[in-house]
Amino acid sequence: MPLRTLRKFERKIERQLKAIERSKSAIERNIARQVRLLEEKRDGFGKKIEERVRQFERKKPIRLDDEVRFLRSWIERPLSIGAVAPSGKFLARTMARYVDPCSDGPVVELGPGTGPVTEALVRAGVAPARLVLVEFNPAFCRMLRARYPDATVVQGDAYSLRRLLATLLLQPAAAVVSSLPLITKPLRMRMRLIRDAFDLMLPGAPFVQFTYSVASPLPTRLASFSAEASERVWLNLPPARVWVYRRLGIRGQKSEVRNQRAEIRNQKSEIRDQNF
Ligand SMILES: C[S@@+](CC[C@H](N)C(=O)[O-])C[C@H]1O[C@@H](n2cnc3c(N)ncnc32)[C@H](O)[C@@H]1O
Repeated sequence: MPLRTLRKFERKIERQLKAIERSKSAIERNIARQVRLLEEKRDGFGKKIEERVRQFERKKPIRLDDEVRFLRSWIERPLSIGAVAPSGKFLARTMARYVDPCSDGPVVELGPGTGPVTEALVRAGVAPARLVLVEFNPAFCRMLRARYPDATVVQGDAYSLRRLLATLLLQPAAAVVSSLPLITKPLRMRMRLIRDAFDLMLPGAPFVQFTYSVASPLPTRLASFSAEASERVWLNLPPARVWVYRRLGIRGQKSEVRNQRAEIRNQKSEIRDQNF
């Protein structure tokens, strides 16, 4: 096939991919808006439940376990918490498996919540002193500081990662492990987050992310990073999957472009064969 036609075809596919991304972002924005509306409506209801829980606590001074704390936080901010219960052991272990405990440098965790993934990382051999835990929720931060006194707990917005960690990390991170509910954010913000994370990491280090969605929370057809998915973890409620992204070097990016071109060529010849 002439090179010009191939380029034209590639440009067409790229245009279509961009159009799909644009409509996906619009749908995502719409969903986020609807959830926010729901959140506002539920606010009144949430406050009533909160008041009941407080009354109960005052009458019976019990230690609330992680599930209850988590549920309470979800009632207050469902969109940012992104789950009604902490991750189960199997999911946490699957996340931790992608981090090499013998690697050098800090391990950054985004959205540790009550700490099930933190726990799995420590059990897998990551020294608590290497952990940098970035959590939005002040109550979770207090809990994490008490449970992991050797770890560095940063209370703040993970989407401002560069500003939060630029001066804090004394050497490039060995991994970033994220439980953030990425799909509640526009694609632009997600892409900025992963780019900032890669800038803080060693070349080839993993960005580990779990999701309840069927698809990857980040586009996998980009030449700048590779994407690999775990098996679905069925023993989690709801079942989830772990995605691992790694920034490609220039050579990797070039070969990825070559692979994509080859894929387009194959698709093209399949279409031609079908037309015969
Ligand atoms: C789905 S929960 C996961 C919690 C825990 N890692 C687990 O697996 O059970 C998401 C966590 O991310 C935190 N979070 C959400 N948005 C955040 C942000 N922008 N910056 C930091 N933490 C955030 C929430 O407070 C919550 O603890």
